[in-house]
Amino acid sequence: MSKLLVANWKMQLTIKESLTLAAQFAKIVKTTKNEVVICPDYSALSFVGPILKKTKLTLGAQDSATDNRAALTGEVSPLNLKALGVKYVILGHSERREHLHENSAIINRKIKSALVNKIIPILCIGEKLTEREDGQTKLFLNEELHHGLKGVKIKTASDLVIAYEPIWAISTNKNAKPMSPQEADEIQKFIRASAAKILKKNVRVIYGGSVDEKNAVSYLSQPNIDGALVGGASLKANSFAAVVK
Ligand code: 13P
Repeated sequence: MSKLLVANWKMQLTIKESLTLAAQFAKIVKTTKNEVVICPDYSALSFVGPILKKTKLTLGAQDSATDNRAALTGEVSPLNLKALGVKYVILGHSERREHLHENSAIINRKIKSALVNKIIPILCIGEKLTEREDGQTKLFLNEELHHGLKGVKIKTASDLVIAYEPIWAISTNKNAKPMSPQEADEIQKFIRASAAKILKKNVRVIYGGSVDEKNAVSYLSQPNIDGALVGGASLKANSFAAVVK
């Protein structure tokens, strides 16, 4: 079955490096049965977009604003992202929730705004280590889903994606270690059912957290893992190409 593989380059590359990586990657991955989304930072979108246009790869963004037009200094309108050819947008990433204090109410508005512009939101949810150790993982994820998806209406199951990223498993976090594929699968089954109750649609649920070329197959072969959101390993063309293949 086709998987959704999303490269999140975060704020790790210059525009020049983004261009080089996109070109290298496009050269290696000529065909794939999977859907592959590349998410450069805002400043690189208009440069990377034209490179991807000639390929089967899709352009994504790492965030978007709550409104199409507003006095919101520094924000980027989903209207403009759409004009640049953006098909997917990552929303509610744990790094934005933690370092930029983005809350579920804001994320909820961003999701609705992306949908109005026909951009597919990838809603990120995930527990911290403390919540895991307290046995609160599912309770916490359920809350993030309910708040993030409050009043969200989608027409088809492919209009929205959930990304489950246990925060403690993200490679750049202190003492990060990957979650076992079996446990990720079990939690994603729960997320799928919970999201289906809210949205009345069986949306895709992808996994993120230290996914790389060595472990990708073991995650992607699980029945409840519809794809991967990849950080560190997406910054090397060969590594991400191996994940995609
Ligand atoms: P890593 O793949 O580096 O763990 O990052 C995961 C992530 O945060 C993707 O959004």
